[in-house]
Amino acid sequence: MDFSIAVIKGDGIGPEIVDQAVKALDAVGAAYGHSFAYERVLAGGEAIDECGEALPKRTVDVCKAADAVLLGAVGGWKWDSLPGGERPETALLGLRKELGLFANLRPAILFEELADACPLRPELTAGGLDLIVVRELTGGIYFGERGLRKTEDMGEAAYDVEIYSEGEVRRIGKVAFDMAGKRGGRLTSVDKANVLESSRLWRRVMTELAEGYPDVELSHLYVDNAAMQLVKNPRQFDVIVTGNMFGDILSDEASMITGSLGMLPSASLSASGAGMYEPSHGSVPKLAGLDRANPMATILSAAMMLRHSFGLAEEAAAVENAVKALLAEGYRTPDLFVEGKRLIGTSETGDIVAAHIT
Ligand code: NAD
Ligand code: IPM
Ligand code: MN
Repeated sequence: MDFSIAVIKGDGIGPEIVDQAVKALDAVGAAYGHSFAYERVLAGGEAIDECGEALPKRTVDVCKAADAVLLGAVGGWKWDSLPGGERPETALLGLRKELGLFANLRPAILFEELADACPLRPELTAGGLDLIVVRELTGGIYFGERGLRKTEDMGEAAYDVEIYSEGEVRRIGKVAFDMAGKRGGRLTSVDKANVLESSRLWRRVMTELAEGYPDVELSHLYVDNAAMQLVKNPRQFDVIVTGNMFGDILSDEASMITGSLGMLPSASLSASGAGMYEPSHGSVPKLAGLDRANPMATILSAAMMLRHSFGLAEEAAAVENAVKALLAEGYRTPDLFVEGKRLIGTSETGDIVAAHIT
């Protein structure tokens, strides 16, 4: 089959990690007889430099027309002093909103082969770990009203409003309940309902939804407790559903339990079938161009693209198995390296993964 993919390489390590995901996709194309047409578009810092804005209209148009979007990462020191509304990161938020990508899936899987890279005591993760954070991505404090105002006697003040509607909570809740139903049947909704009105609404809607899912066991945790439970006993979690900001934080935390933030892929999905695939991590400016970044989160994001946007489950599994094979052979990128393993760079990782896809 033929598929079109809008490709945003982005900033920092973005270009080098995206190149490795493309190697994996091309290997899938060759092995299974598909053709992927890539259209490169700009967003983030590179777009600011080239076009004077972080998210050019052409980028949005190409992304909307494509079958899926593959993104590296945006942002970096060079653009950190720009006003909030002009930063590279606004491109990400703009794409998520323009494409309606409200459901962000971030699976944290500790591969057996990486048990030695998990910073928790071995008995806490014996038998592996497989949880998924379902993060609401187009609402909450990221998209509420924000601004600056003067106070009487405390100088300038800044505010960002956390706001969720019932409809927004219900649609992300359905995604999470459906997913829990297909997995281990356990859903943990994370909020701060002891303090925040928006969280009380969140909890009420999740509780109402549960009535329609008798096979899913719903529990609620406050976010502070959830952050602690993740390192105390991560195996208690199957599916975690939470708002935009809590999901941002908890997914980075969950990733480290799987060895490195460089292992955590993501899929951002809309109600109408649009999909954007990117690693959960950022542009790691200090590693840019050094061939030291771990491209596996991006490669695994490409696998999610095959599964969720193209309906190619077997091909997705082939990519995931290629990553596992690389790890089983003892290869490690610097972020995962321990004595006795074989140190490899970004590009070699892509080559080895591609070679395993047959
Ligand atoms: P980051 O995720 O870029 O890096 C945090 C740390 O995680 C790094 O110092 C590094 O030690 C490690 N790490 C992350 N990914 C890795 C990989 N693939 N290989 C090896 N090590 C890896 O977060 P940050 O430093 O807070 O942010 C850097 C820039 O990236 C900022 O401009 C930020 O806004 C941006 N950012 C972009 C995205 C995105 O585009 N989706 C996501 C997060 C952060
Ligand atoms: C992520 C990133 C983004 C977010 C930033 C760069 C806007 O941290 O995708 O996790 O907070 O959503
Ligand atoms: Mn993040």
